[in-house]
Amino acid sequence: MKMNFSELASVNKDNVIIYLVGDDKKLSAGARDLDKKASGLISKAMTNSGFNGKLGKTMCVALASGARADYAMLVGIGDIKKLDATALEKIGGSVVPQLNSLRAVSATLLIEDIKISGITTAEAAACIANGTRLRSYNFDKYFTKKTADEKPTLKNFTVALSGAKAAAKPYAKLAAVSDGVEFTRNLVSEPANIINPETLAEQCRTLEDLGVEVQVLGEEEMYKLGFGALLGVGQGSAVESQLVVMRWNGLGKASKEAPLAFVGKGVTFDTGGISIKPAAGMEEMKWDMGGAGVVIGLMKALAGRKAKINAVGVVGLVENMPGGNAQRPGDVVTSYSGQTIEVLNTDAEGRLVLADALWYTQKHFKPKFIVDLATLTGAIIVALGTSRAGLFSNNDKLSDQLSKTGAKVGEEVWRLPLGEVYDKQINSDIADMQNIGKEREAGSITAAQFLQRFVNNTPWAHLDIAGVAWSKKDAEITPKGGTGYGVRLLNQLVEDFYEGKP
Ligand code: BES
Ligand code: MN
Ligand code: ZN
Repeated sequence: MKMNFSELASVNKDNVIIYLVGDDKKLSAGARDLDKKASGLISKAMTNSGFNGKLGKTMCVALASGARADYAMLVGIGDIKKLDATALEKIGGSVVPQLNSLRAVSATLLIEDIKISGITTAEAAACIANGTRLRSYNFDKYFTKKTADEKPTLKNFTVALSGAKAAAKPYAKLAAVSDGVEFTRNLVSEPANIINPETLAEQCRTLEDLGVEVQVLGEEEMYKLGFGALLGVGQGSAVESQLVVMRWNGLGKASKEAPLAFVGKGVTFDTGGISIKPAAGMEEMKWDMGGAGVVIGLMKALAGRKAKINAVGVVGLVENMPGGNAQRPGDVVTSYSGQTIEVLNTDAEGRLVLADALWYTQKHFKPKFIVDLATLTGAIIVALGTSRAGLFSNNDKLSDQLSKTGAKVGEEVWRLPLGEVYDKQINSDIADMQNIGKEREAGSITAAQFLQRFVNNTPWAHLDIAGVAWSKKDAEITPKGGTGYGVRLLNQLVEDFYEGKP
């Protein structure tokens, strides 16, 4: 998609011209002018269709030949006093399906005579454009037979405002983050015959172009270090397990400042192992590397916008397969931390992968904090559904920062408790711990409790993203499929609370 910013005065003709309308339903100057020229067509359509100007609602009218556009579209912006960056992105996103159904190749959205508090018009234009871009994403590389009229048409999008030049800079910053989001979406959407631990590690290497240092540990190195928990999960797979460490030193190579650490579960396919999953829906487990996908996309975003921060991303990449060499229920493994684990269910594999990745991260990097992301439990979907990630933390400050930022960017989290009663549930009769709780209840909490045993007092937060990493339906700025949920949240967390702060 080609994105442009132009002066209001230089807008001439386009396939579709889009006007913003608040919930007071008052038309802007340009829309009023067009309405007059078209003998009240627009105001009549507003009345007839019941268009109410609510955020993201759209209405289209076809214009007579000779008019400045084939169609005029109105998009609701709701209560102008409530507009913020996230609402503006939603506005930009909500026009996309309409434009494609009109078969528009090109469209121009006009920001006329509105003043949004707390944000410049140029920034508002950048947010709208970014929303349009994020909603236009589609993963269509495997269609070989789609004809042009089955594909989306929109190729050019222009936001017109006065002072258009000033929009380029804020847009570039947002675009760097969206590049990260799209990278995550691509990785998550790829099937597991294409993305496996080895090929995903190769994908991490592409970040070197942006100045990220990438180090890949293979099975031999992990074996020497003693990664018994992670390696046990991957031992039934024909592909080698990997640990990838990505470092972005935004404070300069010589900087000794402790990094912020992000750790991701990267199970490129989760069959359940010997504790095999039922056939129905198992294909979804191609996105069980979603946590790693977010960490990789986040590193791309931070490096792409040259964030002034030291950050490290660590992803544990394995394929959980049954087979003659696979780990068995009842096996006892020794983790990198030295703690032993009785593997009672080979399908509770994410926590085993994270156990070694977390211990490694705190030990080698002494980070300011660790945030891990994992499609860890089905139970979190039962508890929270698909609109919020579960948050677990040993640190109230980090937890509050995540909650605030989540609400701000529209990637919300909900904190759940940790505590002694839950921790007891994972004590084993034969080893230091077992990988599932003694009872079925509180499954997401006992999983988090397990992770906490591997963070060693580091300020830590765990995001269980099983409900949000993939979406079955389109949302304002997120088409169905891999969502990239978490990239924008963590990028904003870094920007708002850690960047440029000692
Ligand atoms: N990857 C799954 C969790 C999951 C389920 C993610 C559905 C997305 C959608 C995880 O490895 C798993 O299998 N967890 C088990 C844990 C159980 C064996 C204690 C689960 O949630 O059933
Ligand atoms: Mn599993
Ligand atoms: Zn899993």
